[in-house]
Amino acid sequence: MERNPKTNRPLPNPDTQQLFKGLLLGTAGLVLVVLVLLGTVAFLTLYEGSSDSVETADIESKLNNEPFSGEVVDGKDVVTGLVVGEGFEIVRTTCTGCHSSAIILQNRFTREGWKEKIVWMQQTQGLWDLGENEPAILDYLAAHYAPEAPKGRRMPLKDIEWYELEN
Ligand code: HEC
Repeated sequence: MERNPKTNRPLPNPDTQQLFKGLLLGTAGLVLVVLVLLGTVAFLTLYEGSSDSVETADIESKLNNEPFSGEVVDGKDVVTGLVVGEGFEIVRTTCTGCHSSAIILQNRFTREGWKEKIVWMQQTQGLWDLGENEPAILDYLAAHYAPEAPKGRRMPLKDIEWYELEN
């Protein structure tokens, strides 16, 4: 039997040594995995705690499919001024990257009109293919930023056939 030269104690046989090595490596690996997991959880908890900024908040709300959690006043997102409604998140994330939302708020188009603007941006301004988001974007824009009916006095009546009142 082999002996440890220092202690003179009998060494375990090679099979047992292999087994111990395996166990040791396995345990080390497990500890590592647990540490990484704990680290991730700790990071996420801290990160969540500091997520007061609107951006993080709505990335989360998008991921969780929850309602937008930014500040909304009169149905509008305080940051972009966009109406918060169906499709708002997609429009906000897709359409405010290159220019401010003001450029949307300043405009009123029909659904076809918005489609033309999008095509124009795609052809000339490097806007990407909106893929399956396009219908939702167009629905949103057409619903909230459609041409308004003229305000104030009605238009003068035209082509009226006047008739005499009888007594
Ligand atoms: C890849 C960049 C980019 C993205 C993303 C983008 N746009 Fe634009 N858009 C532009 C540029 C550039 C202009 C021209 C800006 C200017 O004239 O100052 C523009 C102009 C516009 C205009 C004004 C067009 C006109 O006739 O004056 C509107 C409206 C508009 N964008 C709406 C949108 C909407 C809605 C989205 C989301 C679907 C969007 N944009 C996303 C680049 C982009």
